[in-house]
Amino acid sequence: MTQAILREILDYAHRANPYPLYEELRKTPVLHEADGPYVVSKYYDIQSLLHDPRVSSDARNLKSPAADPLAADAQEETALPPSFLRLDPPEHDRLRRMTNRPFGPPHSPRRVYDMHGELKDIVSGLIDGIDNPDRIDLVDQVSYPFPVTVICRVLGVPREDESRFHTWADTIAAGLDPAPDADREERDKIVHNARTELGMYLAGLIEERRKKPGDDMLSELASSHGPDGAMTTMEVLSTAALLLIAGHETTVNLITNGMLTLLRNPDVLGRLREDPKLSVPIVEELLRFEPPVQLVPQRTTLADIEVRGVTIPKGASLWLVLASGNRDPDRFDHPDRFDPERGDIQHLGFGSGIHSCFGAPLARLEAQLALSELARRLENPRLLEDPPPYRQNAVLRGPRHLPIACDGIR
Ligand code: HEM
Repeated sequence: MTQAILREILDYAHRANPYPLYEELRKTPVLHEADGPYVVSKYYDIQSLLHDPRVSSDARNLKSPAADPLAADAQEETALPPSFLRLDPPEHDRLRRMTNRPFGPPHSPRRVYDMHGELKDIVSGLIDGIDNPDRIDLVDQVSYPFPVTVICRVLGVPREDESRFHTWADTIAAGLDPAPDADREERDKIVHNARTELGMYLAGLIEERRKKPGDDMLSELASSHGPDGAMTTMEVLSTAALLLIAGHETTVNLITNGMLTLLRNPDVLGRLREDPKLSVPIVEELLRFEPPVQLVPQRTTLADIEVRGVTIPKGASLWLVLASGNRDPDRFDHPDRFDPERGDIQHLGFGSGIHSCFGAPLARLEAQLALSELARRLENPRLLEDPPPYRQNAVLRGPRHLPIACDGIR
């Protein structure tokens, strides 16, 4: 029975609505079958394991690597060192601190805040480009191109190279979705080539920025400041690849899930149209209600850990089902209700603890701007397919297309 639930979570038939399965899963809060992972599904248990130093994120501790939700799992393939997502302290902390520097105090709030106008222009430009209001694919026309353009600007990719960067990013992101066996070899080759080309392109850009630094993230990462010194070229490369991949599909899904949820809740959409500031609580509630990262499947225990009377042995792999914790009735009242006005929205959508999402301020701002602009500018928007077609991926879950129509663009 229990293994059947795990299989069902991965089964595409449940992609549009996995939440009843999570409810079933929470009846066995620490689920373990045969040599499978220990699957943890209640809010407080997940939260405490995310903060537990006996739980490792280091991919080298994994016995059998599962699908990697955020990092490129082909990092060994491209001979890049592991990014800090897949490292434990002290290496994790050193690299995260150095990455934070260009964004960190006193720069952090200013950098993200400074990008407000630029981000709004990018999203407005994408909405201006919608030529047929009778059939819009929100994914291809807005949610998908937006975060890649933003990460290009953050890293300092020259404008004339942005379209090449988009092509590589799209190919790599498509590679995160499982393919039918028959197509896998060909697809893996294409993804591998895209990664190699992107790596070579970034290596060239890093060299240029070392010689002639600009006011961008790659220049900052490649230069030496403070007690941590500078990153090696390989470290800058794996960090840049992490920022691109971790911030791409996730933000796409937040914006798309967001518009889908708003179209299913027209009263909230109507209020957002009148008051763009509502996008702040709406995005927080979306990160609880429809989180783009459904589960964190790559953690290993460094010691025996007891959770609710179950001993998870040293060396076991864990799946922490963030999306289930977010719907745990022991943590949230009426968890299956989309309610941006709930007072307390301490969701697990960005994880928690030392690996909690590095890009959260940027991701929040991108989603707030995209949703408030869409609400303001699309006249009488409506869904053409409900549920829309989803991607295969059960970990980074979201629609592949979101067909909508509207009466016009303001
Ligand atoms: C980590 C979610 C956007 C960069 C994480 C984690 C989650 C997450 C759940 C924790 C993973 C774990 O514990 O293993 C999301 C969501 C996003 C988003 C839902 C969008 C809605 C971004 C963006 C960036 C980014 C835009 C970069 C600009 C990172 C990095 C980490 C991370 C670097 C690793 C942090 C560490 O290991 O210390 N993200 N993310 N994310 N995210 Fe995000």
